[in-house]
Amino acid sequence: MIERTLLMIKPDAVQRNLIGKITDRLETAGFKVVELKMVHLKAAVAREFYKVHEGRPFLDELVEFMSSSPIVAMALERENAVAALRELIGATDPKKAAVGTIRQNFAIDVGKNSVHASDSVENAAVEIKFHFGS
Ligand code: RTP
Ligand code: MG
Repeated sequence: MIERTLLMIKPDAVQRNLIGKITDRLETAGFKVVELKMVHLKAAVAREFYKVHEGRPFLDELVEFMSSSPIVAMALERENAVAALRELIGATDPKKAAVGTIRQNFAIDVGKNSVHASDSVENAAVEIKFHFGS
């Protein structure tokens, strides 16, 4: 089934000039970019985005990092997009990410892990609406 999912290029990757390389990997894997923007999230907005992680020990650090400098958000369309993108980005911790995944190739550590991807079709719809309003 054709689905949409949300990808964010996190501050560590934007700062290291990896927007183009990461976007190339997405397009080469068959994802169509259907929405795209660069934005510097306020801490309160980042906290709202990550409210599913309320109470998790890493939340404050995550919010601080995600609001530290600009990110790139994009809505992507493809067959089976949600699962396919999770596979392409790899495990949260780049040390555990499969060879050839975006995180294995580019991420610094479990916090500065270069990209976010929606984890379900339901959350993808919420997250696309969060950034693009539809
Ligand atoms: P994401 O939401 O960014 O795509 O990452 P994910 O699904 O692979 O991981 P999730 O459990 O949703 O965690 C969200 C982000 O929080 C940071 N994190 N740090 N220090 C830690 O143990 C830790 N655990 C998670 C990561 O930046 C992770 O991507
Ligand atoms: Mg997640």
